[in-house]
Formats: sequence, structure tokens, C-alpha cells
Amino acid sequence: MTVKTPGTPASKVDRTPASTPASKIDRTPVSTPGGPRAKEEKIVVTVRLRPLNKREQLAKDQVAWECLDDNTIVYKPPPQERSVQPAPFTFDKVFGPASVTEAVYEEGVKNVALSSLMGINATIFAYGQTSSGKTYTMRGITEKAVIDIYNHIINTPERDFTIKISGLEIYNENVRDLLNSESGRSLKLLDDPEKGTVVEKLVEETASNDQHLRHLISICEAQRQVGETALNDNSSRSHQIIRLTIESTLRENSDCVRSFVASLVRKEQNTFSENPCFNFTSGLTSVNANDVQNFVDLAGSERASQSLADGARLREGCHINLSLMTLTTVIRKLSSGKRSGHIPYRDSKLTRILQHSLGGNARTAIICTLSPALSHFEQSRNTLFFATRAKEVTNNARVNMVVSDKQLVKHLQKEVARLEAELRTPDPLREKELKIQQVN
Ligand SMILES: Nc1ncnc2c1ncn2[C@@H]1O[C@H](COP(=O)(O)OP(=O)(O)O)[C@@H](O)[C@H]1O
Ligand SMILES: [Mg+2]
Repeated sequence: MTVKTPGTPASKVDRTPASTPASKIDRTPVSTPGGPRAKEEKIVVTVRLRPLNKREQLAKDQVAWECLDDNTIVYKPPPQERSVQPAPFTFDKVFGPASVTEAVYEEGVKNVALSSLMGINATIFAYGQTSSGKTYTMRGITEKAVIDIYNHIINTPERDFTIKISGLEIYNENVRDLLNSESGRSLKLLDDPEKGTVVEKLVEETASNDQHLRHLISICEAQRQVGETALNDNSSRSHQIIRLTIESTLRENSDCVRSFVASLVRKEQNTFSENPCFNFTSGLTSVNANDVQNFVDLAGSERASQSLADGARLREGCHINLSLMTLTTVIRKLSSGKRSGHIPYRDSKLTRILQHSLGGNARTAIICTLSPALSHFEQSRNTLFFATRAKEVTNNARVNMVVSDKQLVKHLQKEVARLEAELRTPDPLREKELKIQQVN
């Protein structure tokens, strides 16, 4: 089976979902309720500062960063450097060392994560230097999203859901299947005119329930661990993408299908935006929806700055992470507003696979993780520079609604037959009424 990069076939109908961005910052609203078309929206950027770890504590490292409020983080220089007050960095949300992953999920990325249930492609990235907390955070976020996905399924009996999962790792530009330990070799990327970039022969498993999905995710994580030991320090240089594909179909006998068909018969204007069945908040966005949710745990960002610093293509014993470098270039180009210029998505596997999440048809959230230690000041500042650029990137998320022709035609035929039958067989009560009127 292949896994596809979300495309936007012409047959799909565009819509924009509602949401409640918690941000205090004056930015493009995350979405417009009931709006019929795609809206530009900025990538949601959050920062998570972890506590000092044991090693940092033992080394008597100092805490160099302070979260001033829910949106702002600032460098706290040591006393001897305190003559100039550094400028604070502002983001959609900033989480301090005491915050738990649940808060990062609920207040930071949940809106984006749940978009995939409403017919919109969603991607959540973790970016930061090695040991800043990317994997720790992404594990928790993925788990919370799985809980919400299955709660949504239980609360939406009028739809049938199919959840599929695939997992891959990009290490030194080789794509490895995390659900198929047999495929040791690198998988090829192919260009599909309709589907976009597809990873050839990537295994995609269907999860039978939430436990099964958790099990499949744990296989991906275990596979990554195997690679880590074998390849020595791999984890800080590899990117992991866990992809859930969520397909949902309105059950045939659901009232919503009937009312949708009826509204088509009545040739109503604005059917999609007015029909309550397509209301985002009801969770029923379409007759058929097929969406992708990516959880991306990136390689340690120090690789990007190291490689950018010396500009070398290859360092002794350390392959430069082309994917990470290209990601930072793509973000830099997109953030500068020059969308019409060349964006080098095709320069790396990561950016090819995630092209839609970067300035395309998806909602994207980036969690930038930081060590608070003074000894990591440079790396943390680089991460915040990356985060600041990412804030300026806009996406165009649309609801990927596929109105199944077969399903619609079937219901339309039924409706036509019913109306014809009504015309052929006059209502006896109505006949009687007409006769009484004539007599009077
Ligand atoms: N917010 C946090 N609170 C407590 N411990 C954390 C936090 N973030 C990371 N850690 C711990 O720090 C270590 C490194 O985190 P990890 O997620 O593996 O880093 P990365 O994936 O960025 O290399 C792990 O032992 C992890 O449990
Ligand atoms: Mg990690």
C-alpha cells in the first residue's frame, strides 16, 4: 500500500472550519466559521521550555530563559550581562518548565490536531535541539490526539470511520518504514499527478480500535529505537513521521444524507454552508472525508545550525541533515512572503513528503522545545529565531470533502422516484379538500 501526500483533487469541495484560537496575539484568525472557501491562516507556533535536567543541574548550569506570560519568553542574562534588557519573543503560546504535556495539547495544538476529524489535513511538528524535549512532547501529544479521535468516533454515530496508520523515518535522506522491519532499504518517493508525493511500498495498517492504534504507534517507536542503536546517535539526526489517515463516511440512512440530497433537489443556494450537516461544530463536514494527520518528531536542530555555520556539505563522521536544512530554508522563504518565488520543497525528502503542511492545504502547528540551560543559550536562541520565522508562514487549509457520486446518485434516484410517485398518486385528502372548495 502507498501513503499519499494530501492532494486537492478538483472534485473536492472547499470549506473552512470554525475554531477558537486562544491566542491573544493579533493574527489571522485560525478559521472562519461557515465560510465556504479556504482561508489563509498562519502556522500556530508554540514554545515549550523544559526544566533543567539532571546533567544540567549537576553541572550547576543556570536557567537562562523566563516565560513572562502565556505568550512571551525572554532571555534572562546572568547578572554581569544585565545592562541591556533583551527583547522578548512572542508566540501563540509559551509553556514554562512546570507545564504538563496535557496543557501543551489542550491550549496549544488541540485545535489543529482535531482539524483532521473535520476534513482538514493537519500536521504537528516538534522542533528543537537534541534533548530539548521533542520526543517527550510528541509522544504525549500523539496519545492525547488518539484519545480525542476515538472520543469523537464514539460521539459521532452517524458516520463510519476508518483510521489508517503509517510510520516512517528519514535518516540521511533514506526513508525507512517503521511498520515493516523487513524493508531495511530506503523507500522511493514517487510523484503521483493526483495524489502528490507518495512513498512507494510504505505499509499502511488499518487500526481496528484505539488499543490497536496505540500498539501500532508503539511498533513505530520501537523500530526507531532499533535504528537508534544500530546507527549510533541516529535519533538526533532522524525525522520521524507518524501519519494517520482518517476516512469517514456518512452512514447511508443518516438524516444528514437525506437532508443533503433534499437540499440538492431544491437547488438551494449555498447548500454546503447552510446545510447543518456540513456544519463544522457538529463534526459532520461531508458525505465523505479523507484526511491526513502527521505527527512529526524532527531531528535535533543543532544539526541545521552547525551545517549552516560551516556551509560544508559533509562533515567528518557526521552527515549533514539535508532535510532539516531544507526545512529551515523553506520556512525562511515562505516567511519572507515571497511565495511566488521558487520554494525548494524538492530538495529534501522531508519537505517533499510534507509539502502541503508548509504553506499548503493543511493546518500546521509547530512546538519548539527549549532547554533552559545557559550553556545551550545559542541553540535555544536559534530555535526561537526559527519559531519567529515559522509564525509568518501562512497555509490554505480546506475541507477535503468528497461527495461520493455513487452514494449521491443512489439517493437522488430514490428522491426522484418518490416525487414521481407522489405526482402519479394524488393525495386523497387533498382531492377531498379540492372537491369541498368546488362545491362551496
Ligand atoms: N517538559 C519536560 N519535563 C520533564 N522532562 C522532560 C521534558 N522534556 C524532556 N524531558 C526529558 O528530557 C530528556 C530528553 O528529552 P527528549 O524528548 O528525548 O529530547 P529530544 O527528543 O528533543 O532529543 C528525556 O529524558 C525526557 O524525559
Ligand atoms: Mg528525540
